[in-house]
Amino acid sequence: MQLFVFNFYGTTFLVIYGMVIIMGTVLELGATPAPAPAPAPLLPPSEANAILNSGWWNLSQLDSHNICSWYGIDCNVAGSITGIRCPLGTPGIRLATLNLSVFKNLEWLEVSGCGLQGTIPPDIGNLPKLTHLRLSYNSLHGEIPPSLANLTQLERLILSNNKFQGPIPRELLFLRNLTWLDLSYNSLDGKIPPALANLTQLKILHLSNNKFQGPIPGELLFLKNLICLDLSYNSLNGEIPPPLANLSQLDSLILSNNNIQGSIQNLVFSKSLTWLDLSANKISGTLPVPQTNFPSLKLLNISHNLLFGSLKPLSVGNQLAPLTTIYLRNNSISGKIPLELGYFLNTLDLSYNNLTGTVPLSMENVYDLNLSFNNLNGPIPYGLSESRLIGNKGVCSDDLYHIDEYQFKRCSVKDNKVRLKQLVIVLPILIFLIMAFLLLVRLRHIRIATKNKHAKTIAATKNGDLFCIWNYDGSIAYDDIITATQDFDMRYCIGTGAYGSVYRAQLPSSKIVAVKKLHGFEAEVPAFDESFKNEVKVLTEIKHRHVVKLHGFCLHRRTMFLIYEYMERGSLFSVLFDDVEAMELDWKKRVNIVKGTAHALSYLHHDFTPPIVHRDISASNVLLNSDWEPSISDFGTARFLSFDSSHPTIVAGTIGYIAPELAYSMVVSERCDVYSFGVVALETLVGSHPKEILSSLQSASTENGITLCEILDQRLPQPTMSVLMEIVRVAIVAFACLNANPCYRPTMKSVSQCFLTQLTPLNIPLREISLQQLMSQELRHYLNL
Ligand SMILES: *[C@@H]1O[C@H](CO)[C@@H](O)[C@H](O)[C@H]1NC(C)=O
Ligand SMILES: *[C@@H]1O[C@H](CO)[C@@H](O)[C@H](O)[C@H]1NC(C)=O
Ligand SMILES: *[C@@H]1O[C@H](CO)[C@@H](O)[C@H](O)[C@H]1NC(C)=O
Ligand SMILES: *[C@@H]1O[C@H](CO)[C@@H](O)[C@H](O)[C@H]1NC(C)=O
Repeated sequence: MQLFVFNFYGTTFLVIYGMVIIMGTVLELGATPAPAPAPAPLLPPSEANAILNSGWWNLSQLDSHNICSWYGIDCNVAGSITGIRCPLGTPGIRLATLNLSVFKNLEWLEVSGCGLQGTIPPDIGNLPKLTHLRLSYNSLHGEIPPSLANLTQLERLILSNNKFQGPIPRELLFLRNLTWLDLSYNSLDGKIPPALANLTQLKILHLSNNKFQGPIPGELLFLKNLICLDLSYNSLNGEIPPPLANLSQLDSLILSNNNIQGSIQNLVFSKSLTWLDLSANKISGTLPVPQTNFPSLKLLNISHNLLFGSLKPLSVGNQLAPLTTIYLRNNSISGKIPLELGYFLNTLDLSYNNLTGTVPLSMENVYDLNLSFNNLNGPIPYGLSESRLIGNKGVCSDDLYHIDEYQFKRCSVKDNKVRLKQLVIVLPILIFLIMAFLLLVRLRHIRIATKNKHAKTIAATKNGDLFCIWNYDGSIAYDDIITATQDFDMRYCIGTGAYGSVYRAQLPSSKIVAVKKLHGFEAEVPAFDESFKNEVKVLTEIKHRHVVKLHGFCLHRRTMFLIYEYMERGSLFSVLFDDVEAMELDWKKRVNIVKGTAHALSYLHHDFTPPIVHRDISASNVLLNSDWEPSISDFGTARFLSFDSSHPTIVAGTIGYIAPELAYSMVVSERCDVYSFGVVALETLVGSHPKEILSSLQSASTENGITLCEILDQRLPQPTMSVLMEIVRVAIVAFACLNANPCYRPTMKSVSQCFLTQLTPLNIPLREISLQQLMSQELRHYLNL
């Protein structure tokens, strides 16, 4: 379990690997056939000899006159080697057999997951132009050679997942251009050298899973560009240097599983910090206040420490804090659980503490809850699963099975139960009526404000048990809907979503609308009921060209339905699935769909506080109207979803679109939508779900020469040059969004802005652009992502 979270990259890899198995398809990674023999650039003999004598490539399969065309080799126009990547299928290769001193123009040496053995030879320092050195996931051992210091152009040094020993050489401080240093998962020891502070361009510093000792050097505060700092799983001690907490770009700070001491009550973390993991240390004192100590934090993990005192500071001013996930397992927290915590948290683990008092009803709203092994008492709130309260001897239940299983007390008074039942019936209705009233007030306000002659007409009908609200400038009546769908006859059903069926209804005015109906039995399941209300709540706040419009909704006995604008072309998924429609959806339209979706998501994420997270972006939830303009639909899972707690492992979203981090963290953030958007964007270009590409992204051998043009939907003609530029941009954006680490995905705002800017031509042959190039940092910079 512990490994699961802290092995950040390893985990992501595993998770994705799991997805590969689910999807069942693996990309065939054959060497792409060499293009028709163009006049091969003449490689300098020294470089050619070094390659031929290295033993890295199986010469019996390759054309030794055109080394530049080999898989894993990149050359510049002058015919000198600029990039060397992992060759295919030669196990047990060594760096020492490649004469590194001859490659005067080498910029990339990326031999990752390639079974490299031995040590790093000192002549690695003879590569004057090297910017990227990645040797991760191999079996290299020995010390990190000080000669690396000669690689003054180096931007990325990634040596993780090997068996390196010894200290970090002081000489590394000469690598002034380094932005990414990853030495995690080795056996390095000694202190973290304060001289690292000289690497002022550093954005990512990963030193986790080594044997580093001593304090965290306060000098790291000079790393003003640092975004991710991961020092977990070492033996570091001392306190967290206060200025470090306040680094202005820092997004993730991971110091778990060390021996860090002191209190964090007076630490003020920067406004950029969203992820703080201090678990499994020796932190003591009372809890900090979110609004003052970490105003932008989303995830806080201080499990397995020595904290005491009450939970009060967490609920001070909480509604405004973006904090949604708190782990405090295994501390000595006492006192009652503040009611307010249930209003803003998705995940709360308070197990193994000394909490007392009853369980607040609001806990029902917490998506992933663990209150076990405390001293709580009283009845279990309706809708909360007993399993979340195991080990609380004072808690009582009326479910004989659970009393037996978890040794709860029996709730003696029958009265309680009856009252609870009444509450369960009355409360939702009350909430609903209040909501409806607020909605009415809001709509009226809108009507007064717009003097437009198309102003919406609003009518509320309340006769007997029928209650409808319209937000539509034509007229719709409850009876019209019933007549038009012949009382929801299957013939009019055009789809079944996660939370109900959708019908097509032609009104007497000949206007067509889509009606989403929850059936009686569905309306009684809290999850569906909740999702319905959620959708109303979210959609009434949203007005955007690319978000599906809600015309109104009705509540009739136990039947509820929502009325939307009708989208003639159905979902993007169904269009791409159908060969005829897919061919109608030409490249221009496809690029437009991706852009529209990006603008809508940017609006949801950045024009609301707190942001609206959709959580289920997929090709099925992007609908198209008669002009092929996209609209995002299905807000049933958006924002605060509370669902049947007997299924605590359900993650909202569609398999194949869910961000990898959700598989192990349950942290819902905008970045999960960004990932799903990346899948949809790629799917739009490829023409079907891009399973193989997603899985190859994670395997060590992404480094294959597949070009963008090869993966484009082959049902359409090859794009013209002007559209190809746009397609390349969509692809660069998509791959950036698909980054396994949420830290490095762009925001929807930057994506949306990037789509609004004019493209300046790229000076690379677009028809030959490879997936690997599309993923490069250079092209991301080109788009300002
Ligand atoms: C929180 O910390 C505990 C202890 O180190 C760990 O087991 C758990 O997985 C962490 N959770 C997250 C989401 O980081
Ligand atoms: C090189 O390729 C040939 C032909 O595919 C194969 O028979 C041979 O075993 C390979 N050699 C090595 C060292 O992998
Ligand atoms: C590596 O190449 C250089 C330049 O061609 C040469 O001087 C040197 O002897 C070579 N080293 C080995 C071990 O072959
Ligand atoms: C660092 O990068 C800059 C700009 O990219 C470059 O001009 C400089 O030569 C590089 N090297 C060093 C040692 O600063």
